[in-house]
Amino acid sequence: MADTNITHRGMTSDFKALGDINPPKKQQKPPVENKQTSHLVYTTAKILIILIAAIIIYLLYTFNYFNTVTSPATLATSKVVKTKGPHYGSPTLTGRLYTREELAKHDSHGSPILLAIMGRVYDVTSGQAYHPDSSYPFFAGIDGTRAFATGEFNKEGLIDDITGLDHDSIRSIADWVNTYDEEYTFVGRLIGTYFDENGQPTQTLVNAEKLLKKANANKATIQRDKAKFPPCNGRFSQAEGQVIWCSTKSGGIERLWTGRPRKYFDPTIRTKRCACVRDSLMDSPLLELYEGCHPDAIECKISK
Ligand code: HEM
Repeated sequence: MADTNITHRGMTSDFKALGDINPPKKQQKPPVENKQTSHLVYTTAKILIILIAAIIIYLLYTFNYFNTVTSPATLATSKVVKTKGPHYGSPTLTGRLYTREELAKHDSHGSPILLAIMGRVYDVTSGQAYHPDSSYPFFAGIDGTRAFATGEFNKEGLIDDITGLDHDSIRSIADWVNTYDEEYTFVGRLIGTYFDENGQPTQTLVNAEKLLKKANANKATIQRDKAKFPPCNGRFSQAEGQVIWCSTKSGGIERLWTGRPRKYFDPTIRTKRCACVRDSLMDSPLLELYEGCHPDAIECKISK
């Protein structure tokens, strides 16, 4: 039988109490050598982590990882950039910088085949259209932004300058940029008209952004106006001449009311056109009655 009165090294005297079923906790202090060793291991690990982090940051800088566009460029990033490369889904533009000469080496005979639009370079090797003897090889190796809107596929038309293009053209270029973002791999930026040597947007790109914003705002205004004053239906024949009429669907606008034909000065396009007008809007100063057309008529002959 164990003698409960006997105290052992490391045991508290409580253990001596009869009937105490909980043995006292050991309070062994770690040896001093162990404490020093673990401190040393901890410090070394810390230094190692800092060193590794510094090496990673250095490597990322070396490989131009941080060379991203920092200022907003919504024509260039009109959608969140969905590049298929390592930065897929990143809202910033990455990739490398190309000179025109470098890009020219990647024409329809190049490997890979690259093209640029608004200074954004894409790998289009997978698109048959850009291969020699196909439909659009001339877009490869250059930035032919303007031709995406004008369809002028010659030396004069295949340029990156978009000066003087109208709102529709600017919007269509932005649509093409979105198409390339979705269909192909974004690989970098072309130094020149839209990006400078540091890969930052040029004033030309900033101006193009403003133009696109205006073009989109204008389109929204035109659509709102069309919903308020829908264009009339129209038909022409030798026998009847020009006939205009209103129904619950005209000018692409479906609605619950019919309206009556009126000559309407459309402020968004600054010209007069036929509009189907609700009774509640008849007082508008922008409206005129067509000659020979009864005010309550929903169909009128306007010429013979
Ligand atoms: C401004 C005018 C036009 C531009 C800028 C243009 C541009 C392009 C581009 C860049 C592609 C390749 C798209 C891709 O990578 O998948 C393409 C494809 C195509 N385009 Fe056009 N296009 C224009 C007008 C037309 C017209 C008027 C037609 C028809 C008469 C047409 C028919 C086609 C066809 C059939 C394809 C797909 C077949 C192919 O890859 O060759 N395009 N277009």
